Amino acid sequence: MADQQAQSSDDNRPTEIPAIRWDEPPEGPVLLLLDQTRLPAEEVELVCTDAPALVEAIRTLAVRGAPLLGIAGAYGVALAAARGFDVEEAAAGLAGARPTAVNLAVGVRRARDAYRAALVQGGDQKQGAEAALTAARALHREDAEASARMAAHGLALLDELLPGGGHRVLTHCNTGSLVSGGEGTAFAVALAAHREGRLRRLWVDETRPLLQGARLTAYEAARSGMAYTLLTDNAAGSLFAAGDVDAVLVGADRIAADGSVANKVGTYPLAVLARYHHVPFIVVAPVTTVDPDTPDGASIEVEQRAGYEVTEIAAPQAPVAGAEAGGGIPVAPLGTQAYNPAFDVTPPELVTAIVTEEGAVSPVTAEALGELCDRPRQV
Ligand code: MRU
Repeated sequence: MADQQAQSSDDNRPTEIPAIRWDEPPEGPVLLLLDQTRLPAEEVELVCTDAPALVEAIRTLAVRGAPLLGIAGAYGVALAAARGFDVEEAAAGLAGARPTAVNLAVGVRRARDAYRAALVQGGDQKQGAEAALTAARALHREDAEASARMAAHGLALLDELLPGGGHRVLTHCNTGSLVSGGEGTAFAVALAAHREGRLRRLWVDETRPLLQGARLTAYEAARSGMAYTLLTDNAAGSLFAAGDVDAVLVGADRIAADGSVANKVGTYPLAVLARYHHVPFIVVAPVTTVDPDTPDGASIEVEQRAGYEVTEIAAPQAPVAGAEAGGGIPVAPLGTQAYNPAFDVTPPELVTAIVTEEGAVSPVTAEALGELCDRPRQV
């Protein structure tokens, strides 16, 4: 079950409340999610008391973005265990809630394996639940650490590629603290540049159809005090043509073994534009987003979403589950069919560099990526 809880916001942190948190009130453990479908209008928490509620929150994008999906999935397994539900069933449901971001399945597996291991060692459900929660908390903490290291590696790369400073960076979708245990992936690099006084402007793609750029990245940028400008996705071409983009920074939902990058739909056209205009195109993602079991871009399952997300301007809150339309404002004739992939795939040859917490790969090759992700973790 999910319930809602409102809080106020009045300082300049990216958000007043964290994107995700675990709590243990007397009624029993809960997972609290900052409901991203309500931003920027209000900061409201969704309270999940079971895995199906979390699955619904994942599908409606109340909680979203690859690293955060992994963290949420791990906590979801811990929640099911702590509440005495069938953990295997909960894990399967959570892992399949959205198909493209590999972090979701990775996070679910990590907590489920910890639960299983506790049981194999003779533990009971309570000890299994504790083990799953410990695993979820570790993943949450590690993601925050990875975020800080990606920011440092990414900023070093930006400075190397653009020695003059005063970077004008274009980004797509949302990759800040709303998707992470820390300050995010691509956005964390822009934030590091901003703090060092080297970010001249963040260009924010609005990111149709669900407006993650306009609603979420602009919100994070504003609250971080960055100089930022919002543009419609189809204005990016003229921005490049005017010579106003020095680098593109994006995140990733899954990186195949050959370096193909699945990210929010609209990323691939930016990579094509960047190549044509000789602008670096940089992908920032934790090692957990690299999937050695997916050999190439064609093997990545791209989530197809409901047509109403395109034929309507999004409603200010999540659609009612099972409803045929989303309750938004129609912008196309009734019955119009829509093509609505949630992601696209950028081939490795268009990617200047992939930045992870373990360092950067450039040029992007299967060998270099495999070597980087195999490396023992630096702590
Ligand atoms: O559909 P969403 O909003 O979950 O898509 C998110 C993205 O595409 C992000 O760019 C991606 O998860 C990288 S975030 C580090």
